[in-house]
Amino acid sequence: MRKIHVSAPGKLHLLGEHAVVYGKPALLASINKRIFVAISETEKKKVDNPSLEELKKVIEHAIKKKYRISKIRPYTISISSHIPTGSGLGSSAGLSVALTFALLTFLGIKANKTTIFDIAYTGESFFHGIPSGGDVATVIEGGFLWFRKEFEFLKIFTPLPFKPHKNIGQFILINSGKPKESTKDMVEKVAQFKIAFPQKTQALFNSQEELTKRMVVSFKDGDEGNLIKCIKSGEQNLEKLGVVGKKAQSLIRSIERLGGAAKISGAGGVKEGSGMLLVYHKDVERLLSYAKQKNLEVLKIQIGSEGLRKDE
Ligand code: MEV
Repeated sequence: MRKIHVSAPGKLHLLGEHAVVYGKPALLASINKRIFVAISETEKKKVDNPSLEELKKVIEHAIKKKYRISKIRPYTISISSHIPTGSGLGSSAGLSVALTFALLTFLGIKANKTTIFDIAYTGESFFHGIPSGGDVATVIEGGFLWFRKEFEFLKIFTPLPFKPHKNIGQFILINSGKPKESTKDMVEKVAQFKIAFPQKTQALFNSQEELTKRMVVSFKDGDEGNLIKCIKSGEQNLEKLGVVGKKAQSLIRSIERLGGAAKISGAGGVKEGSGMLLVYHKDVERLLSYAKQKNLEVLKIQIGSEGLRKDE
């Protein structure tokens, strides 16, 4: 049997991270950095990569249960990824989704997106406890996604029904350093904050919902000024929630002084770095020369690229 190749993109949160865990909406986008998974049959069961074995087990278990399969014939997996890991860019969601799709294809199962989501979500939960599912949905769908978890058993996601207005220019990512904490740690941190300050947290989540909606309208109307305001205010709320470290905050303030706006793109981090910052400026060249002058690590990305796909 010949090799099967699949790939999935990374993702970022345009806005709504953390609040999305509590039923608020999030606006997410895929990015043009992908993870590639190839699967092929082998004679004997093989350990491809010890750290992958647990995830493979979780996904295999979900597939066996769903399709009432008792045994999966031996296979081998190879992975290559252009998505920076542990930086808020959905590398774990990409891996769960691509692995799920590769294995289903290997088994000759044509699954719809909802089934791929359900199976990959069990894989993502293995990394993150109880994730919202927004990352997994975005990696599958690609493009720009409106996501909301109504209940644990009902997650609603839909692509934005328009392309961003041509006035909206390029986003870039600037590395604020790898977070020491995992996504699970950061979600737990917000849970603790919510227990300590329930009203304040609810007010911050409500404000994020409002800003996330305003951000969608800025993309539709091409209102860069409004987009910058939404990023700035959204970031301030995330800082008040306690998910952005000092280093990232000072980098973000300097970007704001330049006339731009920046925010974390995933769960954040406080002990060291806060992951990749999503940065916007009406004049991207100004931003790039600033980054060069300060020796900052920049990643130029396109957002809204293609979702999960079979390659070749
Ligand atoms: C992580 O990319 C986003 C969080 O909102 C967690 C989640 O949605 O599961 C922090």
